[in-house]
Amino acid sequence: GAARNANKETRNIAQKMEEANKNLVIFWGSQSGTAEGFANRLARECHLRFGLEALAADLSDYDPETITLIPQTKFAIFIMSTFGEGDPSDNTAGFWDYIHKHGDISLSNLRYMAFGLGNSNYKYYNKVIDVVAEALEKFGAKSLMPVGKADDAEGGTEEDFMAWRDDLFAVFRKDLQFEEREIKYEPTLCVVEDESLEPIDLHHGEPVHPRDNAKAAAACSPIKALPIKNSYELFTSKDRNCIHMDLDISHESEIHYKTGDHLAVWPTNPDVEVERLLAVLGLSTRRSVPLSIKSLDAAVKVRVPTPTSAEALFRYYLEICAPVSRDTILSIAQFAPSPAAKLFLTTLGKDKTAYADFLTRTHLNLGRLLELAISTSGDSSAAGAWSGLPLSYLLETLTPTQPRYYSISSSSVVSPRAPSITALVSTSPLPNAPGELVHGLTTNYLLALSQSLSAAPDAPAPHPHGLTYALGGPASSLEGGKLHAHVRKSKFKLPALGSCPLVMVAAGTGLAPFRAFVAERVRLQQMGRPVGEMVLFFGCRHSDEDYIYREEIEEAARALDGKLKVVTAFSRVSGEKKVYVQDRVAECGDEVTRLIGEGANFYVCGRASMAREVGFKVQDAVKRTKGMGETEVREWSEALKRRGKWQEDVWG
Ligand code: 2AM
Repeated sequence: GAARNANKETRNIAQKMEEANKNLVIFWGSQSGTAEGFANRLARECHLRFGLEALAADLSDYDPETITLIPQTKFAIFIMSTFGEGDPSDNTAGFWDYIHKHGDISLSNLRYMAFGLGNSNYKYYNKVIDVVAEALEKFGAKSLMPVGKADDAEGGTEEDFMAWRDDLFAVFRKDLQFEEREIKYEPTLCVVEDESLEPIDLHHGEPVHPRDNAKAAAACSPIKALPIKNSYELFTSKDRNCIHMDLDISHESEIHYKTGDHLAVWPTNPDVEVERLLAVLGLSTRRSVPLSIKSLDAAVKVRVPTPTSAEALFRYYLEICAPVSRDTILSIAQFAPSPAAKLFLTTLGKDKTAYADFLTRTHLNLGRLLELAISTSGDSSAAGAWSGLPLSYLLETLTPTQPRYYSISSSSVVSPRAPSITALVSTSPLPNAPGELVHGLTTNYLLALSQSLSAAPDAPAPHPHGLTYALGGPASSLEGGKLHAHVRKSKFKLPALGSCPLVMVAAGTGLAPFRAFVAERVRLQQMGRPVGEMVLFFGCRHSDEDYIYREEIEEAARALDGKLKVVTAFSRVSGEKKVYVQDRVAECGDEVTRLIGEGANFYVCGRASMAREVGFKVQDAVKRTKGMGETEVREWSEALKRRGKWQEDVWG
C-alpha cells in the first residue's frame, strides 16, 4: 500500500537527486569495495572543497533508464572496476544489460566523467570503463574530460585515483568555474554513546551482507557461522604454513555449493591491532559502551550494524589493518592533537616518493600511524592522544570489512555438506625492514582458528607470529570453532560430460579447485561412468616442501587408471634452474593442442600473472602446430573463452 511505497527508496536517479538536493551523482560499480570507497570519498571531498552536493550511488540501486532524466544542469561521474575476464562487477549487471540491449537511448542531456579500476596483468585491462564510455558517447552524452584509469598491477590504484582526482578538480576550477573553499570537517554520520541500549543488540561478530541487490544476492548464500569440522596444516615450513579446513554445512538448509564455487570468509582483526586503536583513541575503558549510528545525509548509508560498540567496530566491521592512504594521512592531519603531529602527517602525506619509501620500512595501518604521529613528535605517551578524532570520521574513512574469497577445494558430489578451503598463510617482511612482518589478515585468522581446534585445552599452540583473536567468549556470537562465511557461485565449472577431456594448470594453492575436479572424476570412474583424459600441471617450490595434496593426487592417478597425467614444475630445487608451470605447458605444447582440438576444457587457477604466461604458451603452441598467425590465434583463444572452454579462477 501507500505506506510501504512511502518507505521504499526511489529507483529513479533523477528523482533521488532532486529529492536529496544533489547536483552530482557518482555512480560506482564495485566488486571488492575499492570503487565504492573512491566514490564515497570523492562525494565528500567534492562537497567539502567545492560545496557540490554529491551523491555516491550504487548502480544497482537505480533503474538505468532513469539516467536519461538527469538534467543538463547536473552531471555524473562513473567509477567502475573491471575484473576477471573483462567482467563488470555484480552491481553493474543491470546497467551493463541496458547499454548493450538498447540501441535508441538518448543521453544528450548527460554530462559525465569516467574513471576505471583495472589490472594490466589481466587481458581485458579496464574493459568495463572503456565499454561504458563508448556507450555513453554513442548515446550522445557529453564527456567533460578524458577517461581516467587505475592500474593495480604494481599496486598503483590509490595513486592513480589521486592523480585523476587532481585532474578532475582542475576541470572543476577551470572549465566548470567551480569555486574552491577551505576544507572543514562536516560529519555525515552521528555517532553517540547510549548506555540505555541493550548490550544484546550489539551484533558482535555477525557480518552484514555487502550487497542487498537481487543480482548479487542470487550469487551468494546467506552468511552463517559455520562449524569447523576438521582443520590441519598441509605443510609447515620455516616461513610458510598452508591450511586445509573442512566446514560443516549439514545444518544449514540455505547453504549449498557446487564444485568450483568460492567460499567467502569474513575475517576478524587481531587483538593487538584492536587494542592499539582503542588505546590511542582513548576508548579502552569505553570499548563496550553501546554506540548508536545514524546518517545525517539522505544520500549516505550507515554501512555497519547499529547499535554496536567501539570494540565491535574495530574487531569485526572495519578494515583497520590496511595501509593508510596518503590522502587519509593528509585529511587526518586536521585532527592532529599537536602542531608537531600535524607537521609529521602533512609532511608524510604531501610527498608521494617519501610516502612510498616510508611504506617499504613501516607497516602503516591506522593505529600505527596515529601512534607514530605522537611518538615522532616527542610526546611520551600515545594513549588517548587522539581522543579528539571523531568516530564518524573513522566510519566514513575506513573500508567496511570485506570478505576474502577462497576457491572451494572439495567436490560437491563427494562432500556435499562439507566444503573445504585451502589457504596459504601469508606473512611477508617489508622490503626495507626485513624484521618487520606484515601478516595476511584472513589467513592468519584461519591459522589461529585451526590451532585453537587442534590444541589441547591446557596447552594452546602458540600462533607462529604471536597473534591472538577473539575466537569465542560470552561477548561474542562467534563461538570458538566457527567461521563466518558464505558461498558465492562461480562460473569455474566442470563440463557436464564426464568423458570431456580436461587440461588443468595450477601453481601453489591454485590447486584447490582441481583437487575437487579430480576427486569428482574419481567418483565417476568408481561408478563405472566414462571418464575423459586429464592433464594436471602443478607448480610449487619444492617436491618435499609445498607439494600440497600429493598423496591424494597420486592415489587419484592410480584410481583413474592412466587417465590422469600429472606434470610438475618445481621452482626452488637447489642447484637447478627455476621451472614454472608455463614452461611445462610449453614443453607439452603438442599434447595440449591435441587435447583442446579433441574438445578438452582448459582451466587455470592461481595468480593472474601466471595465467597470462600460460595463455601465451598455449597460443605459441597453437601457432606452431596449426600454423596460425597472431590475429588468428587471438580470435581462436577468444572464441574458446566465449564458449566456456577456457576458464580462469585467478587473483592479483
Ligand atoms: P617461486 O616463488 O619460486 O618463484 C607457487 O607459489 C609456485 O608458483 C612457486 O613455485 C612459485 O615460484 C611459482 N610462481 C611464482 N611466480 C610465478 C609466475 N609468474 N608464473 C608461474 N609460476 C610462478
